[in-house]
Amino acid sequence: EGWTAPALSGRSPAPLAWTQQDLVDFMRTGYSANHGVAAGPMAPVIEEGLSRLPHADLQAIAVYLRSYHPEAAAQAAAATLNAQAERQVEPLSSQGARLFSGACMACHAQEKGAQMAGVRPSLALNTNLFAEAPDNAIRVVLDGIQRPANAELGYMPGFRHNLNDAQIAILLNYLRQHYAGQAPWPDLAAQVGRLRAETEQK
Ligand code: HEC
Repeated sequence: EGWTAPALSGRSPAPLAWTQQDLVDFMRTGYSANHGVAAGPMAPVIEEGLSRLPHADLQAIAVYLRSYHPEAAAQAAAATLNAQAERQVEPLSSQGARLFSGACMACHAQEKGAQMAGVRPSLALNTNLFAEAPDNAIRVVLDGIQRPANAELGYMPGFRHNLNDAQIAILLNYLRQHYAGQAPWPDLAAQVGRLRAETEQK
């Protein structure tokens, strides 16, 4: 369906290691402030399955998953990563920055502006921006999140009809560089075009 499932082991691309509490929060509510939301096909797994399990079961699953993580090396705190990313965002300095401030920042800035409905997932901590495959990031921008893992998370609008392939590629590579500090994804506009065609509602 155009989504990539990240590794749950120590090879997870997440910038912060998953703690026991992060895993339990994510499985129970579909959201961890240190990692982001359960989107795409993961949302119904939370909604119809994991969120209904007894707390003790979630704790046990989290212990099991944590056993695949090597002891986390010292790492920057979430607040530091968020603050660094926001300092680097200079709203009108490039086309990517302009697209971001026009289309995304109202809901996603961590330090500025009023809280909109739902959660405000930090893009500086978002696994999808650190991942080798851009697919999940592209899917979220194309179609938003129409079916949240739980209603309190809120909805995200899709940009399929507002942004073209080149604009989405510029925007996502801007976020990948500025928020995740990673090299840009190669050939990104073509990948946006491919996923756009594959996931077009007939
Ligand atoms: C109207 C508010 C709003 C706007 C505008 C918006 N988002 Fe979102 N976004 C959300 C909400 C709320 C969620 C979490 C939704 C959920 O899981 O229920 C989200 C989730 C995401 C996620 C998924 C996070 C994850 O953990 O996987 C990404 C990536 C994302 N947004 C990127 C963007 C980008 C890029 C833009 C600009 C093109 C944008 N958003 C515009 C509200 C918004």
